[in-house]
Amino acid sequence: MPGMDGLVVLQELRRRHPALVVIMITGYGEVSMAVEAIKLGAYDYLLKPPDPDHLLLTINRALEKKELQQKVESLDRSLDSSLEMQLGRSAAIRQVIEDIRRVATSDFSLIIEGETGTGKTFIASLIHNLSHRATGPFIALDMGSIAESLLESELFGYEKGSFTGANHRKKGYFELAQGGTLLLDELQNLSPQAQSKILQVVDEKSFYPVGGDKPRSTDLRIIGATNADLGQAVSQGTFRQDLYYRLNEYSITLPPLRQRPEDIPLLAARLLSEAASELNRNFKELDDSALALLAGYPWPGNIRELKNVLRRATLQSDQRQLTADILSKVLTNNRCAGSALPGSDSDREGVASMPISLEQAEKETISLALAHTGGNRTKSAAILGITHKTLLAKIKKYGLH
Ligand SMILES: Nc1ncnc2c1ncn2[C@@H]1O[C@H](COP(=O)(O)OP(=O)(O)OP(=O)(O)O)[C@@H](O)[C@H]1O
Ligand SMILES: [Mg+2]
Repeated sequence: MPGMDGLVVLQELRRRHPALVVIMITGYGEVSMAVEAIKLGAYDYLLKPPDPDHLLLTINRALEKKELQQKVESLDRSLDSSLEMQLGRSAAIRQVIEDIRRVATSDFSLIIEGETGTGKTFIASLIHNLSHRATGPFIALDMGSIAESLLESELFGYEKGSFTGANHRKKGYFELAQGGTLLLDELQNLSPQAQSKILQVVDEKSFYPVGGDKPRSTDLRIIGATNADLGQAVSQGTFRQDLYYRLNEYSITLPPLRQRPEDIPLLAARLLSEAASELNRNFKELDDSALALLAGYPWPGNIRELKNVLRRATLQSDQRQLTADILSKVLTNNRCAGSALPGSDSDREGVASMPISLEQAEKETISLALAHTGGNRTKSAAILGITHKTLLAKIKKYGLH
């Protein structure tokens, strides 16, 4: 080897062909050099003269390793492109994809923050599906929808006979989610009592069913989701700092749709094809004017609102090509039908064009909010911007259910 030694050759090879697998063959007395070679990225080293069988074995192992490495790289690339296909390609969403990839395979608990409709629940289930818990259950629990008095039995279950009417043992959500992922949705709605119960489970990795005297250990991953600023809730004292830190081992913040208009064409195409197959309609296409309209609209209800508009358009239009004209009609309709409800999933058809009394409008808006939240009063009050107490009074006044 004139002019340079083996180590220099190795370095040069690594520089020119980073994927190349290198096996060094070295003379007696050069073992320290061989160790140096491994440090520089050689796969293995053999002593001169190498035993033919040993040499063959080493080469085979090196090839296997290379193959595996290539498989992992191509899996990595296809995972990346599949996430991009689902979520988008903007810089903002690429950061999210990187976060998802980093955290999915770990068992970290995490908090997903983002405005309503940005896809927090969607991404939580994506993370579950990419995790080693994918074969286990994924349970999304809306923390605002559990009545305070039922909190413990809903979360931890109860034993038979633990109270009047407990005729059989019932599993709570923490038990139902064993081996999988439990999404605590709308974290900001956790009452102080719920916060302290959950903190206890997280700390002790076990819980007691109501009326039970044996603790059950938990084996699940907890993901929290919120559209409020939890950090601020902590500094205001409405959310426990210790719980916040336990859950916030990692955090992902989803960008609002208006901050990534370049993702709208891709998302819209997917949502249109979903809508077509779900509603059993022909697949619609967006012309340039329609795309421009969608890219310029601020989407206060984010992806949920986009999804609603495209579903309505798929249902209402007979034309294959959706134009700005058609979409702007659907958009206005959508805003009117759910004006107080950015991103309403409810598909209320048509709007009354006759003016109605303010009282009637109030009653309708409250009904819509209740329908939208599945009857959840805390959420409805938040959407309507009134206190829980005011909402209860109005529900009573209008005789709503
Ligand atoms: N990348 C996506 N591709 C297709 N559909 C999506 C995507 N992201 C979200 N959606 C859909 O948009 C709607 C809203 O998403 P999701 O429920 O995850 O939002 P969210 O942030 O959890 O909202 P909320 O704060 O109201 O709980 C859902 O119907 C969801 O299936
Ligand atoms: Mg959600």
